[in-house]
Amino acid sequence: MQSLTIRRPDDWHLHLRDGAMLRGVIADTSRHFARAIVMPNLVPPVVTTVDARDYRNRILDALPEGHSFEPLMTLYLTEETNPDDVEEGKRSGLITAVKLYPAGATTNSASGVRNLDKVMPVLERMAKIGLPLCVHGEVTTPEVDIFDREAVFIETVLDPLRRRLPELKVTMEHVTTSDGVDYIRSSAANLAGSITTHHLIINRNAILVGGIRPHYYCLPVAKRESHRLALRAAATSGDPRFFLGTDSAPHVDPAKECACGCAGIYCAPNTMSCLAHVFEQEGALDKLEAFVSLNGPAWYGLPPNETRITLVKRAAPVQFPKKIETGAGSVTVFDPMFPIYWDVE
Ligand code: DOR
Ligand code: ZN
Repeated sequence: MQSLTIRRPDDWHLHLRDGAMLRGVIADTSRHFARAIVMPNLVPPVVTTVDARDYRNRILDALPEGHSFEPLMTLYLTEETNPDDVEEGKRSGLITAVKLYPAGATTNSASGVRNLDKVMPVLERMAKIGLPLCVHGEVTTPEVDIFDREAVFIETVLDPLRRRLPELKVTMEHVTTSDGVDYIRSSAANLAGSITTHHLIINRNAILVGGIRPHYYCLPVAKRESHRLALRAAATSGDPRFFLGTDSAPHVDPAKECACGCAGIYCAPNTMSCLAHVFEQEGALDKLEAFVSLNGPAWYGLPPNETRITLVKRAAPVQFPKKIETGAGSVTVFDPMFPIYWDVE
């Protein structure tokens, strides 16, 4: 196949940041994607509907002329979140989901949740009004090995929560393990998972072999090869419970290339090209549209996009910039470590 026309995709997990960084990165998403679920982990985080409305306006202001793009806003769940404010956000159409960061799990998660009991009134209200919870599924317990944090989270936090509140819709974001894939597959209802582009391409060797490579470091951290293969099988299966959430997470290069580098991979510019490559490798180009354009809207109760994009396979590798310059500093673009021939027309 040399060309593939699909409905315009959406990104169900994206970091856009704010200010100069927002203005520097937004076009890399709005060029190809119609909508994105925007993560609320700003400093300070987006915790109230007023914060979310203001942030949405800043995103729309940063959009280049002629780009149409719908930011789908999320609230950052804290132990102080007010259920009435959440309900108002959902009723007004502003809020698409609430994000649970276990405190300390990742970038800007210090205001996250330490004790789930404290947020049960919010979660109960969300279950009642049908508002999904997006979950960063890692425990932060220091005794738990970082490579096991997702599996332990499922067993000790997510599964008990879902048994306590089976009506709550939960998106397990950026699934990185076969444990996560199996858990989603085995659930009867109200559970879905997003998968990033980079976790379909790299395993932990990319971070550690031949030198430490900070631009492959993200959270949850990439796992061993068997997990990457399980993610590929899930993404390319057509199973409606799996969809794209790029987790494109820009950090300026000095914040990554240092003694304690930030977690995050910036994959927005070449995500669609990388995915076409992956799906072609798996003999599943016919499943790409489900993964990037159909399964996500169905899960979030939104219509799929009416416009289309066309992917074309070029004779020579497509060149992507190694870095982009933003007003905040340079940001390194995800390097899949293989030539890519697929281009968005
Ligand atoms: O790698 C990551 N980067 N994982 C996250 O959960 C947060 C994100 C960020 O905000 O940079
Ligand atoms: Zn993220």
